[in-house]
Amino acid sequence: MTSKPRLNICITCTASTADAPSDPRDGKQLFDRMAALCADHDLPFDLHPAECLTNCKSGCSVALNGAGKWGYVYGNVDPDTMLDDLRDLATRYADSENGIVAWRERPETLRRNVIARIPPLD
Ligand code: FES
Repeated sequence: MTSKPRLNICITCTASTADAPSDPRDGKQLFDRMAALCADHDLPFDLHPAECLTNCKSGCSVALNGAGKWGYVYGNVDPDTMLDDLRDLATRYADSENGIVAWRERPETLRRNVIARIPPLD
């Protein structure tokens, strides 16, 4: 059985637009809001919390990975305005053959937010 691709959300991030860390952290708020948004849907990806993706100056940060797929780290995800777009991106990623979502097919708000991509293991 193959597991679903993952949307990993850093729960310790502070948003790049924030003056100071919030309580709970902006990343935790992003994770909780995404969990609520996904709760009633059978989505093609799993949601996972992560602690620090080493992209702290460009938080909130998320990472997409999956078997046979390129991995992607995205930064500057706004927990207030980008929830639907992040879910859309993760769905397109999960539905893709190799993890590559063409630039034009990415939600506009996230097109310029790629920090890194990592080759697939197999
Ligand atoms: S705390 Fe989120 S990337 Fe470091």
